[in-house]
Amino acid sequence: MKRIAVFTSGGDAPGMNACIRAVVRGAVYHGLEVFGIRRGYNGMINGDIFQMTSHSVSNIVQRGGTILKSARSKEFMTPEGRQKAYGQLQKFGIEGLVAIGGNGTFTGATLFFDEFGIPTVGAPGTIDNDLYGTDYTIGFDTAVNTALEAIDKIRDTADSHDRIFLIEVMGRDSGYIAIQSGIAGGAELVMVPEVLTPISEVVNILQQGFTRSKSSSILVVAEGEEEGSAKEVAEKISKMMVGQDLDMRVTTLGHIQRGGIPTAYDRILASRLGLGALEGLMNGEKNVMAGVINNELVYTPFRDTIRLPKPINEDLLRMVKILSV
Ligand code: F6P
Repeated sequence: MKRIAVFTSGGDAPGMNACIRAVVRGAVYHGLEVFGIRRGYNGMINGDIFQMTSHSVSNIVQRGGTILKSARSKEFMTPEGRQKAYGQLQKFGIEGLVAIGGNGTFTGATLFFDEFGIPTVGAPGTIDNDLYGTDYTIGFDTAVNTALEAIDKIRDTADSHDRIFLIEVMGRDSGYIAIQSGIAGGAELVMVPEVLTPISEVVNILQQGFTRSKSSSILVVAEGEEEGSAKEVAEKISKMMVGQDLDMRVTTLGHIQRGGIPTAYDRILASRLGLGALEGLMNGEKNVMAGVINNELVYTPFRDTIRLPKPINEDLLRMVKILSV
């Protein structure tokens, strides 16, 4: 393999730039020609492709977002879109791809390989940490720390005003950001999509808190939670606790969790996974995602990262309840 390309796709995540840097510098080190594709699969379809050098990735290891920009491409999900993308790769002589993204990205890469035989190795780039085949994804640690900083600040107001705060964090269908930021932030309860927490249980926990003269509470709610958004959960609580003098507020953290300077952990993980993906591709790996499990670099087939759920550690949820008494 002489010529490869790298792109970022799906939601941006802090550390993606460190990963791009590792792919580009690794390729240069190994004597490959390396191209960047802008705006994910959309750029592949439109031929927004340019040659990169070691210099192209100077001074980016510390930057959030992605210098290659990102997109969720609808067109690539059509056979016509993929045909166009293949034509562009042919034009540039690109023989293999490193895709930094999540499940949508890897689904596209699998279809692409089945139709045109272009091999892709993935690096898991998403704040959600929802990918089977790696303990952590690039951007997750930074997102947790961003959420935590917000929770710490909100706690000041919760405490000063004797309030209940419901804080909604991102994660799509995954509760990883919620559980980790909730534990670190000393939350009274964490609600995640993986485990149903009935509103009656939430009410119980709040009542127990009042009995113990707890004057404020922090509830962290994952955005994919079964009972609904944090706002809907708050409405359901109010209905069940009608007649009680509740001072309750809802804060949705939103996209602040996607941006910012990546933590040292994310930069190191991203560098390792970027180089791991590149070297995997050079060694003949295809349709796999580079991941780190128990501190070992591993490759997991895309079909497993897409299909298999990444279970949440329920013991951590139990811990939240024990530690918040
Ligand atoms: O996958 C990352 C993520 O931030 C999810 O946590 C969230 O559900 C989604 O992307 C939001 O997507 P968008 O930025 O397209 O609104």
